Amino acid sequence: MKRIPYGWHTIDKEDIKAVVEVLQSKRLTQGPTIKEFEEALCKYTGAQYAVAASSGTAALHLACIATEIKKTDEIITSPITFVASANCAVYCGGTPVFADIQPDTVTIDPQEIKKKITKRTKAIIPVHFSGHPCDLREIKDIAKRYNLIIIEDACHALGAEYRGTKIGSCTYSDMTVFSFHPIKSITTGEGGAVLTNRKDLYEKLLLLRNHGITKENSEFRIQNSKLIDPWYYEMQELGFNYRITDFQCALGIAQLKKIDSFLQKRRRIAAIYNRELLHIEGINLPIEKPYVKSSWHLYCIRLSNTTQRRFVFNRLQQSGIGVQVHYIPVHLQPYYRKNFGYKKNDYPKAEDYYKTTITIPLFPRLDITAVHRIISKIKKVVKNA
Ligand SMILES: Cc1ncc(COP(=O)(O)O)c(C=O)c1O
Repeated sequence: MKRIPYGWHTIDKEDIKAVVEVLQSKRLTQGPTIKEFEEALCKYTGAQYAVAASSGTAALHLACIATEIKKTDEIITSPITFVASANCAVYCGGTPVFADIQPDTVTIDPQEIKKKITKRTKAIIPVHFSGHPCDLREIKDIAKRYNLIIIEDACHALGAEYRGTKIGSCTYSDMTVFSFHPIKSITTGEGGAVLTNRKDLYEKLLLLRNHGITKENSEFRIQNSKLIDPWYYEMQELGFNYRITDFQCALGIAQLKKIDSFLQKRRRIAAIYNRELLHIEGINLPIEKPYVKSSWHLYCIRLSNTTQRRFVFNRLQQSGIGVQVHYIPVHLQPYYRKNFGYKKNDYPKAEDYYKTTITIPLFPRLDITAVHRIISKIKKVVKNA
């Protein structure tokens, strides 16, 4: 059997054609295709503004700088996420504080957020783990009460919906961040974006993406508008080169046109797993709350205990089925233990979840015959564990 990865991109002739067209054009970067991609993201999600960036991590960092997270500030995020959701605040000198998860959806628990708020809390970064949206309504209520910024880490969740609104519309947040890494809902190779409905944040994000430099006459702080030198530009903030290229954006536009079929296929595979693995002893399945539509970025099952998890993981890997574990709780990483004093048992629900979880393959080009092969293998392995 050919090796099946747990996640994989889907690229077709149209994608390749779109990239080649830009490669043959005059602008490889800082050209018009970036704005076109940003407009397509706005149209798809309903957000007013989008700033595309070189990665989801860069986009999270930009969102944190735009929030003005500083040395004395804390942000609250989930311990079950990729390290970037917390690192983005550390880049700004801030302190990530974690709030434990709701075990059923594996997303941050609003009740736990409340317990972690201090005078230093500046922002909440809820993560739509595996594509299942967090309880955004409750999180927004908390943020409003304590005057906190919300940055949704929606790197898993382009295409997901919460109470009838698309994730990315920023109905419940100040900013939403996406990643376009190859295993995500759509890809640009590497890439990401920040979406917002706030013009002030949009303008800051644009500036910060490009070294903090502006060439807009109307924004200059030093040169008098009547005497502007034609070559003149100003660096007004300490920004970065977090630009994405035009040919990546061409890929993003082509991919976004197909997102509905990608999501449909993910949903179809998830439904087969849900049906076929439902009554298998020793397996717990992911859920989808009635008021959300998951983008089914990951399909994470839970086994009975950690010994069984190791056995099943190894056996599936050996048989060519690419499994993964999402994620080792961020607070248990050596860097976080050393620099922020986190230790075992700080977040018991997250740690319990981590002990038994395995991610099984789910991506649009996974054919249904392979899905059934994966299911029979899992059934067999779990029975022998
Ligand atoms: C939850 C989450 N946040 C942030 C990121 C960072 O995105 P990128 O890999 O595009 O930098 C990822 C990437 O896997 C992620 O899964």
